[in-house]
Amino acid sequence: MDSKEGLSVNEVSVRFGGLVALDRVSLEAPPRQVLGVIGPNGAGKTTLFNVMCGFVKPDSGTLTYFGKQVHGLRPEKLTRMGVARTLQGLGLFSRMPVLENVMIGADSQAKVGVLRALLGAGPTVTEERRLRAAAMEALDRLGVAAYAAKMPPQLPYAIQKKVALARALVSNPRFLLLDEPASGLSEGEMADLGDLILELSGDLGVVLVEHHMDLVMRVCSNITVLDFGRVIAEGTPAEVKANPLVTEAYLGDEVGA
Ligand SMILES: Nc1ncnc2c1ncn2[C@@H]1O[C@H](COP(=O)(O)OP(=O)(O)OP(=O)(O)O)[C@@H](O)[C@H]1O
Ligand SMILES: [Mg+2]
Repeated sequence: MDSKEGLSVNEVSVRFGGLVALDRVSLEAPPRQVLGVIGPNGAGKTTLFNVMCGFVKPDSGTLTYFGKQVHGLRPEKLTRMGVARTLQGLGLFSRMPVLENVMIGADSQAKVGVLRALLGAGPTVTEERRLRAAAMEALDRLGVAAYAAKMPPQLPYAIQKKVALARALVSNPRFLLLDEPASGLSEGEMADLGDLILELSGDLGVVLVEHHMDLVMRVCSNITVLDFGRVIAEGTPAEVKANPLVTEAYLGDEVGA
Protein backbone atom coordinates (compact mmCIF):
# COMPACT_ATOMS: atom_id res chain seq x y z
CA MET A 1 0.00 0.00 0.00
CA ASP A 2 1.29 3.51 0.85
CA SER A 3 1.83 4.47 -2.77
CA LYS A 4 3.51 7.78 -3.40
CA GLU A 5 0.60 8.97 -5.51
CA GLY A 6 -2.57 7.56 -4.04
CA LEU A 7 -4.85 7.98 -1.06
CA SER A 8 -4.45 4.87 1.10
CA VAL A 9 -6.36 3.47 4.01
CA ASN A 10 -4.22 1.06 5.99
CA GLU A 11 -5.68 -1.43 8.47
CA VAL A 12 -8.26 1.07 9.67
CA SER A 13 -10.72 0.16 12.42
CA VAL A 14 -13.58 2.34 13.66
CA ARG A 15 -15.84 1.43 16.56
CA PHE A 16 -19.04 3.13 17.63
CA GLY A 17 -19.52 1.84 21.16
CA GLY A 18 -19.77 -1.93 20.80
CA LEU A 19 -20.31 -1.79 17.04
CA VAL A 20 -17.31 -2.39 14.78
CA ALA A 21 -18.10 -0.22 11.75
CA LEU A 22 -14.73 -0.85 10.08
CA ASP A 23 -12.50 -3.79 10.90
CA ARG A 24 -8.89 -3.48 9.70
CA VAL A 25 -9.89 -2.13 6.31
CA SER A 26 -7.18 -1.39 3.77
CA LEU A 27 -7.59 0.03 0.31
CA GLU A 28 -5.80 2.30 -2.05
CA ALA A 29 -7.38 4.89 -4.30
CA PRO A 30 -5.04 5.37 -7.24
CA PRO A 31 -4.81 8.67 -9.12
CA ARG A 32 -6.84 9.11 -12.31
CA GLN A 33 -8.90 5.97 -11.87
CA VAL A 34 -12.27 5.15 -10.46
CA LEU A 35 -12.27 2.85 -7.43
CA GLY A 36 -15.66 1.43 -6.48
CA VAL A 37 -16.62 0.68 -2.89
CA ILE A 38 -19.72 -1.46 -2.62
CA GLY A 39 -21.48 -3.48 0.03
CA PRO A 40 -24.87 -3.88 1.70
CA ASN A 41 -26.50 -1.19 3.83
CA GLY A 42 -24.54 -0.64 7.00
CA ALA A 43 -21.38 -2.28 5.60
CA GLY A 44 -19.28 0.75 6.57
CA LYS A 45 -18.94 2.61 3.25
CA THR A 46 -19.85 6.07 4.51
CA THR A 47 -17.75 5.54 7.63
CA LEU A 48 -14.83 4.71 5.37
CA PHE A 49 -15.35 7.99 3.49
CA ASN A 50 -15.57 9.82 6.80
CA VAL A 51 -12.15 8.44 7.68
CA MET A 52 -10.73 9.24 4.24
CA CYS A 53 -11.72 12.89 4.47
CA GLY A 54 -10.89 13.40 8.14
CA PHE A 55 -14.45 13.53 9.58
CA VAL A 56 -13.87 10.43 11.68
CA LYS A 57 -10.61 9.53 13.36
CA PRO A 58 -9.87 5.83 13.17
CA ASP A 59 -9.43 3.92 16.43
CA SER A 60 -6.49 2.21 14.80
CA GLY A 61 -4.80 2.16 11.42
CA THR A 62 -3.60 5.01 9.25
CA LEU A 63 -4.46 7.16 6.28
CA THR A 64 -1.72 8.10 3.87
CA TYR A 65 -1.79 10.59 1.03
CA PHE A 66 1.04 10.83 -1.48
CA GLY A 67 3.06 8.65 0.89
CA LYS A 68 2.51 10.94 3.93
CA GLN A 69 0.62 10.02 7.08
CA VAL A 70 -2.43 12.26 7.20
CA HIS A 71 -4.77 10.59 9.68
CA GLY A 72 -5.80 12.92 12.45
CA LEU A 73 -5.75 15.95 10.14
CA ARG A 74 -8.88 18.07 10.17
CA PRO A 75 -11.25 17.81 7.19
CA GLU A 76 -10.52 21.41 6.06
CA LYS A 77 -6.85 20.64 5.95
CA LEU A 78 -7.43 17.50 3.87
CA THR A 79 -9.71 19.48 1.54
CA ARG A 80 -6.94 22.00 1.02
CA MET A 81 -4.56 19.13 0.31
CA GLY A 82 -6.90 17.89 -2.41
CA VAL A 83 -9.37 15.42 -0.89
CA ALA A 84 -13.01 16.36 -1.50
CA ARG A 85 -16.22 14.46 -1.00
CA THR A 86 -19.93 14.64 -1.56
CA LEU A 87 -22.34 13.67 1.20
CA GLN A 88 -24.81 10.81 1.02
CA GLY A 89 -28.06 12.61 0.14
CA LEU A 90 -27.58 16.24 -0.84
CA GLY A 91 -26.19 18.11 2.13
CA LEU A 92 -27.17 21.48 0.64
CA PHE A 93 -28.31 24.43 2.74
CA SER A 94 -31.85 25.04 1.59
CA ARG A 95 -31.96 28.75 2.48
CA MET A 96 -28.68 29.61 0.83
CA PRO A 97 -28.39 30.33 -2.92
CA VAL A 98 -26.73 27.68 -5.06
CA LEU A 99 -23.64 29.82 -5.62
CA GLU A 100 -22.98 30.21 -1.90
CA ASN A 101 -23.63 26.52 -1.33
CA VAL A 102 -20.82 25.84 -3.78
CA MET A 103 -18.52 28.52 -2.36
CA ILE A 104 -18.57 26.69 0.96
CA GLY A 105 -16.65 23.88 -0.67
CA ALA A 106 -13.82 26.15 -1.76
CA ASP A 107 -12.10 26.60 1.53
CA SER A 108 -12.72 26.53 5.23
CA GLN A 109 -16.33 27.38 5.99
CA ALA A 110 -15.30 30.39 8.04
CA LYS A 111 -14.73 32.28 4.84
CA VAL A 112 -18.25 32.39 3.51
CA GLY A 113 -21.95 32.58 4.02
CA VAL A 114 -23.31 31.03 7.15
CA LEU A 115 -20.45 31.61 9.48
CA ARG A 116 -19.69 34.98 8.05
CA ALA A 117 -23.16 36.03 9.07
CA LEU A 118 -22.81 34.43 12.48
CA LEU A 119 -19.40 35.85 13.22
CA GLY A 120 -19.99 39.24 11.67
CA ALA A 121 -16.59 38.94 10.01
CA GLY A 122 -16.20 38.21 6.36
CA PRO A 123 -13.66 37.43 3.73
CA THR A 124 -11.85 40.26 2.04
CA VAL A 125 -13.41 41.55 -1.15
CA THR A 126 -10.71 39.91 -3.25
CA GLU A 127 -11.10 36.60 -1.48
CA GLU A 128 -14.88 36.70 -1.90
CA ARG A 129 -14.49 37.52 -5.59
CA ARG A 130 -12.07 34.63 -6.04
CA LEU A 131 -14.45 32.21 -4.33
CA ARG A 132 -17.41 33.40 -6.40
CA ALA A 133 -15.46 32.98 -9.62
CA ALA A 134 -14.32 29.48 -8.62
CA ALA A 135 -17.87 28.50 -7.67
CA MET A 136 -19.28 29.80 -10.98
CA GLU A 137 -16.62 27.89 -12.85
CA ALA A 138 -17.48 24.66 -11.03
CA LEU A 139 -21.19 25.15 -11.75
CA ASP A 140 -20.43 25.97 -15.36
CA ARG A 141 -18.29 22.86 -15.75
CA LEU A 142 -21.33 20.80 -14.77
CA GLY A 143 -23.68 22.80 -16.97
CA VAL A 144 -25.71 24.30 -14.13
CA ALA A 145 -24.36 27.85 -13.90
CA ALA A 146 -27.79 29.20 -14.86
CA TYR A 147 -29.11 28.17 -11.42
CA ALA A 148 -26.50 30.06 -9.40
CA ALA A 149 -28.99 32.47 -7.82
CA LYS A 150 -31.72 29.88 -7.09
CA MET A 151 -32.38 28.26 -3.75
CA PRO A 152 -31.79 24.48 -3.88
CA PRO A 153 -35.39 23.44 -3.05
CA GLN A 154 -36.60 25.29 -6.18
CA LEU A 155 -34.57 22.95 -8.40
CA PRO A 156 -35.11 19.43 -9.74
CA TYR A 157 -33.30 16.76 -7.72
CA ALA A 158 -30.79 15.96 -10.49
CA ILE A 159 -29.73 19.61 -10.63
CA GLN A 160 -29.33 19.70 -6.85
CA LYS A 161 -27.08 16.64 -7.09
CA LYS A 162 -24.93 18.55 -9.58
CA VAL A 163 -24.75 21.51 -7.22
CA ALA A 164 -23.55 19.17 -4.48
CA LEU A 165 -20.93 17.82 -6.88
CA ALA A 166 -19.87 21.34 -7.87
CA ARG A 167 -19.30 22.04 -4.18
CA ALA A 168 -16.84 19.15 -4.06
CA LEU A 169 -15.14 20.14 -7.32
CA VAL A 170 -14.67 23.80 -6.42
CA SER A 171 -11.65 23.03 -4.27
CA ASN A 172 -9.90 21.52 -7.30
CA PRO A 173 -9.42 18.15 -5.66
CA ARG A 174 -6.98 15.46 -6.65
CA PHE A 175 -9.27 12.88 -5.10
CA LEU A 176 -13.02 12.98 -5.16
CA LEU A 177 -15.12 10.75 -2.90
CA LEU A 178 -18.67 10.31 -4.18
CA ASP A 179 -21.16 8.83 -1.71
CA GLU A 180 -24.11 7.45 -3.71
CA PRO A 181 -24.12 10.13 -6.42
CA ALA A 182 -26.72 8.25 -8.48
CA SER A 183 -29.39 7.90 -5.81
CA GLY A 184 -32.64 9.44 -6.96
CA LEU A 185 -31.54 9.83 -10.58
CA SER A 186 -33.36 8.51 -13.65
CA GLU A 187 -31.70 5.99 -16.00
CA GLY A 188 -30.75 8.74 -18.44
CA GLU A 189 -29.36 11.00 -15.71
CA MET A 190 -27.37 8.05 -14.38
CA ALA A 191 -25.84 7.42 -17.80
CA ASP A 192 -24.83 11.09 -17.97
CA LEU A 193 -23.34 10.80 -14.49
CA GLY A 194 -21.31 7.80 -15.67
CA ASP A 195 -19.92 9.86 -18.57
CA LEU A 196 -19.09 12.67 -16.16
CA ILE A 197 -17.31 10.38 -13.69
CA LEU A 198 -15.21 8.90 -16.49
CA GLU A 199 -14.37 12.39 -17.73
CA LEU A 200 -13.41 13.56 -14.23
CA SER A 201 -11.18 10.54 -13.74
CA GLY A 202 -9.05 11.84 -16.62
CA ASP A 203 -7.42 14.15 -14.12
CA LEU A 204 -8.40 13.07 -10.63
CA GLY A 205 -8.85 9.92 -8.60
CA VAL A 206 -12.47 9.06 -7.90
CA VAL A 207 -13.76 6.76 -5.16
CA LEU A 208 -17.35 5.79 -5.84
CA VAL A 209 -19.75 4.38 -3.26
CA GLU A 210 -22.84 3.23 -5.13
CA HIS A 211 -25.67 0.72 -4.98
CA HIS A 212 -26.41 0.96 -8.71
CA MET A 213 -24.35 -1.91 -10.07
CA ASP A 214 -24.65 -1.01 -13.75
CA LEU A 215 -22.96 2.30 -13.05
CA VAL A 216 -20.30 0.76 -10.79
CA MET A 217 -19.43 -1.96 -13.30
CA ARG A 218 -19.25 0.55 -16.12
CA VAL A 219 -16.97 3.20 -14.62
CA CYS A 220 -14.75 1.46 -12.04
CA SER A 221 -11.35 -0.02 -12.83
CA ASN A 222 -11.31 -1.78 -9.47
CA ILE A 223 -13.84 -2.49 -6.77
CA THR A 224 -13.52 -3.14 -3.05
CA VAL A 225 -16.41 -4.95 -1.39
CA LEU A 226 -17.26 -4.35 2.26
CA ASP A 227 -19.52 -6.46 4.42
CA PHE A 228 -20.00 -5.89 8.15
CA GLY A 229 -17.03 -3.53 8.19
CA ARG A 230 -14.62 -5.95 6.51
CA VAL A 231 -13.16 -6.15 3.04
CA ILE A 232 -14.53 -9.40 1.68
CA ALA A 233 -13.36 -9.05 -1.91
CA GLU A 234 -11.51 -6.79 -4.30
CA GLY A 235 -10.61 -6.83 -7.95
CA THR A 236 -11.76 -5.77 -11.36
CA PRO A 237 -15.50 -5.54 -12.02
CA ALA A 238 -15.36 -8.94 -13.75
CA GLU A 239 -13.52 -10.55 -10.82
CA VAL A 240 -15.88 -9.08 -8.27
CA LYS A 241 -18.92 -10.16 -10.28
CA ALA A 242 -17.57 -13.71 -10.44
CA ASN A 243 -16.69 -13.89 -6.73
CA PRO A 244 -19.17 -16.14 -4.91
CA LEU A 245 -18.48 -14.40 -1.58
CA VAL A 246 -19.75 -11.19 -3.10
CA THR A 247 -22.79 -12.80 -4.60
CA GLU A 248 -23.59 -14.28 -1.23
CA ALA A 249 -23.06 -11.08 0.70
CA TYR A 250 -24.83 -8.67 -1.49
CA LEU A 251 -24.90 -8.65 -5.22
CA GLY A 252 -26.87 -11.74 -6.10
CA ASP A 253 -29.75 -10.82 -8.31
CA GLU A 254 -28.55 -7.33 -9.08
CA VAL A 255 -25.40 -8.57 -10.81
CA GLY A 256 -27.21 -11.44 -12.45
CA ALA A 257 -29.77 -8.99 -13.82
N1 LIG B 1 -22.06 8.07 14.23
C1 LIG B 1 -22.41 6.79 14.41
N2 LIG B 1 -22.70 6.30 15.62
C2 LIG B 1 -23.05 5.02 15.81
N3 LIG B 1 -23.12 4.12 14.82
C3 LIG B 1 -22.84 4.54 13.59
C4 LIG B 1 -22.47 5.89 13.29
N4 LIG B 1 -22.24 6.01 11.96
C5 LIG B 1 -22.47 4.80 11.44
N5 LIG B 1 -22.82 3.92 12.39
C6 LIG B 1 -23.09 2.48 12.20
O1 LIG B 1 -21.94 1.94 11.57
C7 LIG B 1 -22.32 0.97 10.58
C8 LIG B 1 -21.78 1.40 9.25
O2 LIG B 1 -22.54 2.52 8.79
P1 LIG B 1 -22.25 3.28 7.43
O3 LIG B 1 -23.15 4.46 7.40
O4 LIG B 1 -20.81 3.50 7.29
O5 LIG B 1 -22.74 2.18 6.39
P2 LIG B 1 -22.94 2.31 4.81
O6 LIG B 1 -22.23 1.16 4.20
O7 LIG B 1 -22.61 3.67 4.35
O8 LIG B 1 -24.52 2.04 4.67
P3 LIG B 1 -25.58 2.64 3.58
O9 LIG B 1 -25.42 1.81 2.34
O10 LIG B 1 -26.89 2.38 4.23
O11 LIG B 1 -25.30 4.09 3.37
C9 LIG B 1 -23.83 0.86 10.65
O12 LIG B 1 -24.17 -0.22 11.48
C10 LIG B 1 -24.26 2.19 11.25
O13 LIG B 1 -25.47 2.06 11.94
MG1 LIG C 1 -23.64 5.18 3.46
